[in-house]
Amino acid sequence: MNKGLKKLLYLHFLLILPWPGWKLPLLGKQYLELLTMWYCSVQDCCDSGDCRVSNNFTGLKSDLRVRLHGQHLAQELILRVVRDYIETPRPPLKALALSLHGWSGTGKNFVARLLAENLYRDGLKSDCVRVFIATFHFPHPKYVEQYKEQLARQIRETQQRCRQTLFLFDEAEKLHPGLLEALGSHLERQAPSDDRANTPRAIFLFLSNLGGNVINEVVLNLLKSGQPREEITLEQLVPGLQAEIAESTDSGFGHSRLVQEKLIDFFVPFLPLEYRHVKLCARDAFRSQELLYTEAALEEMARMMVYVPKEEQLFSSQGCKSIAQRIHYLLP
Ligand SMILES: *[C@@H]1O[C@H](CO)[C@@H](O)[C@H](O)[C@H]1NC(C)=O
Repeated sequence: MNKGLKKLLYLHFLLILPWPGWKLPLLGKQYLELLTMWYCSVQDCCDSGDCRVSNNFTGLKSDLRVRLHGQHLAQELILRVVRDYIETPRPPLKALALSLHGWSGTGKNFVARLLAENLYRDGLKSDCVRVFIATFHFPHPKYVEQYKEQLARQIRETQQRCRQTLFLFDEAEKLHPGLLEALGSHLERQAPSDDRANTPRAIFLFLSNLGGNVINEVVLNLLKSGQPREEITLEQLVPGLQAEIAESTDSGFGHSRLVQEKLIDFFVPFLPLEYRHVKLCARDAFRSQELLYTEAALEEMARMMVYVPKEEQLFSSQGCKSIAQRIHYLLP
């Protein structure tokens, strides 16, 4: 049991302090459970160590399988590498860095949210999670020096607060080269630590649409050659994706230390979504708002999206983006 909690319980039993919700005399185990709950709601303790960290891999697995559509590669890879990273008893030598690539609306942000929600009690709002959106948090190149300091401080403070942290960089292709450079030091290998139980773990997620076109081209060609979508492998996509990222000139990401010095552990391709996936997103949107729906309504919503390329009309150009908002066009 947590040391702070023990002390608190001791005080309670000695002094019988009044506490919120006190009505009937509670005895023994029940009292202890309620007290633990109350203490843990204001503090961060738990039997598991830190109440803010939930690491629910059953939930993550089920969410990735049931709520994420059309991404068999991301689904498998992300669960595996995050779980390995967090559960391996051996202290990690570096932070885990994942770079998620694909067109907008294919589920990159959604996956980031599912991760946060299953790894942390308070999801994206957790003390242990920081979200940075390039154009929102670091909009002006002339302030890059201030941004660097700010970012370093926020990463440091978050890591002091939590032994397990998650940092999310949205629009990573728009991060200033100076910031990418500064991030390098957080992703480098660290000297092995003796303090096994206390080695911090950090996950860095980079989200961008860099390489999205290459992924889509390869997927299109594979589908046209008759390969089932679900049998597309990482080996068929990742080398081309990495080459495209490293060569891209319209963003500093590919030329940054993160990519050049292989500080990114995994590149995760997100496939372009097809009509049937958009229908599934539409169904989820109806269900989450507890609305009744018909097959016709799902089809109507899926038909609202634009499909490309012109000839094949196979991929939704906006993926499943804003599907939830579009429901309202259909309601009477
Ligand atoms: C883990 O997630 C699953 C599915 O969301 C949920 O049913 C379960 O209660 C969660 N387990 C814990 C320990 O929170």
